[in-house]
Amino acid sequence: MLNLGVLASGRGSNFQSIINEIEAGKLNASIKLLIVDNPHAYAIERAKKHSIEYLYINPKEFSSKNDFFRKITDELKARNVELVILAGFMRIVRKPLIDAFPNRIMNIHPALLPSFPGLHGQKQASDYGVRISGCTVHFVDEGMDTGPVIIQAAVPVSPDDTEETLSARILKLEHKIFPEAIRLYADGRLSVEGRVVKIKGCELKDEYIVNPPLR
Ligand code: GRF
Repeated sequence: MLNLGVLASGRGSNFQSIINEIEAGKLNASIKLLIVDNPHAYAIERAKKHSIEYLYINPKEFSSKNDFFRKITDELKARNVELVILAGFMRIVRKPLIDAFPNRIMNIHPALLPSFPGLHGQKQASDYGVRISGCTVHFVDEGMDTGPVIIQAAVPVSPDDTEETLSARILKLEHKIFPEAIRLYADGRLSVEGRVVKIKGCELKDEYIVNPPLR
């Protein structure tokens, strides 16, 4: 059984999708701790409902970002966390946490990286006018959304999409691929070579999406 620690800042719908997979017996993992940097994060309500331990750690109480991340690291280590999940955690992770969990921190980003990193990936994509966007689960390094890609999923984008409509379309896939990436990790199927993530026993389907569709 894989011990997870989850970091979140807000709504926590990705956190919920992981809880659901575990409770349905589809993911052999246990969430040891939720850490939030925002006392009003709705993720806290989800933790309470599912009897998951949670901690609010106030970044303002630390004299440096490294100290804040050192505290987070200590709390995760104290609970024997093996994989750290960033589920809408709105901060760039600093060295103390990355060094303690090398290639053992996963993040979900609402765009097809390396396109549209940072905040509002969905708005960036619709403003740019791309025809296909999506979401990416990746391991976390010191950059912003730059670590090795684990899974991506694509959706069509309409010129009439707003940030809200595109976000909703992408979110549905986020809830599928984040638990799937954790499952691959839990099953020991992921390895990182350079910046490429290899997946054991994964067969590529030679398919494509075209948007607008070909006639
Ligand atoms: C998601 O869109 C995720 O891709 C991004 O932050 C959002 C978090 O949503 N990193 P939620 O808190 O999981 O509902």
